[in-house]
Amino acid sequence: MASHQIFLFGLLSLSFSLVLATDNNPIFDFCVADPKAPPTTSGAVCKDPKTVDENDFFFSGLNKPGNTSNAVGSKVTLLNALQIPGLNSLGISFARIDFQPGGVNPLHLHPRASEILTVIQGTLEVGFVTSSPEYRLFTKVLQRGDVFVFPAALIHYQKNPTEVPAVAYVSLNSQNPGSTQIANVVFGSTPKINPDILTKVFQLDKNVVSHGQQLF
Ligand SMILES: *[C@@H]1O[C@H](CO)[C@@H](O)[C@H](O)[C@H]1NC(C)=O
Repeated sequence: MASHQIFLFGLLSLSFSLVLATDNNPIFDFCVADPKAPPTTSGAVCKDPKTVDENDFFFSGLNKPGNTSNAVGSKVTLLNALQIPGLNSLGISFARIDFQPGGVNPLHLHPRASEILTVIQGTLEVGFVTSSPEYRLFTKVLQRGDVFVFPAALIHYQKNPTEVPAVAYVSLNSQNPGSTQIANVVFGSTPKINPDILTKVFQLDKNVVSHGQQLF
């Protein structure tokens, strides 16, 4: 191959892999989700543009704290194309995360999105871990105004290490980032994973495994 052909081939395979990793690029100015139509692999069916108005691109109420009265002391309020129909086909979503003192947004991953977070109030200890074989932990304590990135599909968490509440806003580059909670996968699947398997994999006492399975 001539060098310009190799360059073109490289460019094509690069753009192909980028397209696979994120939502499809839009081909209309907008494609506001039709709530009555079933979802497709590239989002929802567009409703008639003549029936679209500004409220399709609008949400009110993200100033209200989420209810953090739960076992982990945090609450994610996610705005995806279900809450804002005009997000459909645009490849983005947004969330507010509230933390009570000591609250944790547990280890999880987004199968379809990278995430960028900014602290609006308080302090957060955040981290993500890379994949095999390094399993390297990147962790940092963030203050108000600090920004941190969690690469797509990597397991990550946030914790409020202080005695006062904390709030973060995040953006994700998918209209439907998905969320896989590690503890729910391990202990809370339906039906439950055979406890003998979890006992061996995590090298835990069998009582600890059955306790974990009862909690979820
Ligand atoms: C918050 O959630 C808890 C537990 O589900 C519930 O008991 C409580 O009423 C909720 N508080 C508000 C203000 O909704």
